Amino acid sequence: MKRRHRLPTATGGLTDGDYPCEPDLQRIGLPARLDGATLLDVGCSDGGHSFAAEARGAQVTAIDAEESPANEGRNWFQATRDELGSEATYQAITLHDFATTAPEPFDHVLCFNVLYHVEDQIGAARDLLVLTKPGGRLYLKTLIDSRLPERAQNLLPTQWGATHQPRFRFTEHGVDGDPTSYWVPNPAGVLAILRYAGFVDVAIEARRVNRLYVSATRPTGA
Ligand SMILES: C[S@@+](CC[C@H](N)C(=O)[O-])C[C@H]1O[C@@H](n2cnc3c(N)ncnc32)[C@H](O)[C@@H]1O
Repeated sequence: MKRRHRLPTATGGLTDGDYPCEPDLQRIGLPARLDGATLLDVGCSDGGHSFAAEARGAQVTAIDAEESPANEGRNWFQATRDELGSEATYQAITLHDFATTAPEPFDHVLCFNVLYHVEDQIGAARDLLVLTKPGGRLYLKTLIDSRLPERAQNLLPTQWGATHQPRFRFTEHGVDGDPTSYWVPNPAGVLAILRYAGFVDVAIEARRVNRLYVSATRPTGA
């Protein structure tokens, strides 16, 4: 079994894994330098985005609901951490449980490909708000369903397919064959959840196949 994420190594090579993470950080507009900033990677799996963010200077905390995410008993996060000489920390804990432990909130929060695995997406968005510092920024990449019927009314002044009514598809036995997925929104639905949870400046950064890249700010005073 190999890693999920492919990463540059200290010696100029690449780890195994099919999925490069740096392009995600570029698409979503994470600042090029994060020196002195704290960053939380929610649902980190084997940590590709965590390590790519650390390479930009962030002090990274990573969490995942699984003890050995993605891979048959081996904790690839820890293995990659040792290989890269990383100082990122890893904790096996759900987003909700972590949010209720009341840690210091983070300057930047990444939540990539996790939201559609959570039954209560609005609750998850509220947890993400709690974990983001006032004035800090959330970077969310999530599954969208572009086939959801759209109605040209209640238009929202946004772009890339988000000019429609928020809609969600629920599949009792999992979305597209994945039994751990529940709700899939259209682009307007993703923005609506974040606004409803209390984020402001909610903006689509990119849209690629069936994934939406969104950033949002926790207002100061919230
Ligand atoms: C599809 S993988 C995404 C991994 C990585 N973020 C990426 O984009 O490549 C989803 C990960 O989220 C984790 N996960 C699912 N629900 C979670 C929750 N409620 N809290 C924390 N992690 C969760 C899973 O264990 C899994 O490792």
